[in-house]
Amino acid sequence: MTALLQITDLTIDIDRDEGAARVVDGITLSVAQGESLGIVGESGCGKSLTMLSLVGLLPNRIRATSGAAVFAGRDLLQMSAKELRGVRGSEIGFIFQDPMTSLNPVMTIGDQIAEALIYQKGITKAAALARAEELLAMVGIPSPKERMTAHPHELSGGMRQRVMIAMGLAGGPKLLIADEPTTALDVTIQAQILDLVRELKSQSDMSVVWITHDLALIAGLADRIAVLYAGTVVEDAPVEAIFDRPTHPYTRGLLASLPTLSDQPMSRLASIGGTPPEPGRRPPGCPFAPRCGVAIDACVQSVPRLTAVQGSDPRHRVACFVTAGVVQ
Ligand SMILES: Nc1ncnc2c1ncn2[C@@H]1O[C@H](COP(=O)(O)OP(=O)(O)OP(=O)(O)O)[C@@H](O)[C@H]1O
Ligand SMILES: [Mg+2]
Repeated sequence: MTALLQITDLTIDIDRDEGAARVVDGITLSVAQGESLGIVGESGCGKSLTMLSLVGLLPNRIRATSGAAVFAGRDLLQMSAKELRGVRGSEIGFIFQDPMTSLNPVMTIGDQIAEALIYQKGITKAAALARAEELLAMVGIPSPKERMTAHPHELSGGMRQRVMIAMGLAGGPKLLIADEPTTALDVTIQAQILDLVRELKSQSDMSVVWITHDLALIAGLADRIAVLYAGTVVEDAPVEAIFDRPTHPYTRGLLASLPTLSDQPMSRLASIGGTPPEPGRRPPGCPFAPRCGVAIDACVQSVPRLTAVQGSDPRHRVACFVTAGVVQ
């Protein structure tokens, strides 16, 4: 199956006065058409930067320095700013981490969605407003007609997040990238928003990349999970394999810290002591080795590559010298 998105050996560097610091270090990831990929990992591991690099929205002084990100046959990293503007919204929809920083406070909800549609689709203002109202209804906003003329601060956090989802979906994207869109919301609303995305996905063959800290949350939406640590993928597997046979010690630590799984083997890693390395200060071998309870000499000498996990699903891969070859 050809991937809709294939990221290969992506590196991202932060340009600092004292020199470049590598923050994403050779990420390879793919997303098939219609597939949902969950990306998990601790704060600072490079989840947002990886996704922002795809659509040309990296902050100042942060650049993708090598690798490729082929989307529907074209390398996003080679596109001009103008070409990327054409892809953003219409082919790749984005839902950002914080709705208050991405919604315009002085514009009505209806006008914001309509403006994006007019830009992306070149349709008339009347058609765009009608479509905006349909989108608000689709994402479960009650009385959408009245809400069209509301400003963002007049809506609850959950409703604003739905507006963000409506904007992410407005262009009918082939790929929706959601960057922790529910972190600030209470659990009931989080669950509702996940249900909504699942339902919308079942009605189209849209692919979804959902970034989160929360493995339990993503379990119900993702087909596959990629676990990131310090700018690298340490494990990539179908969601069942991640839960049934978590293999990387870091993944096991993440799972063991979920309350319902506290009786897992290796739960001594539950709290995962220590902190990830700062960008530019990665140790020479496996980046997790300094925090790992099972590291051997090889782990501090060289970097493990992603390899198939013996005895698991053929798509289950892990970057670990110790656990990859152990049939569990
Ligand atoms: N604008 C910036 N300027 C300088 N450094 C940055 C900037 N944005 C991110 N970084 C650095 O890059 C690292 C990765 O950032 P990124 O935002 O991708 O992390 P993340 O995995 O999305 O974390 P979180 O879960 O907290 O959103 C951060 O730890 C930080 O050191
Ligand atoms: Mg982030």
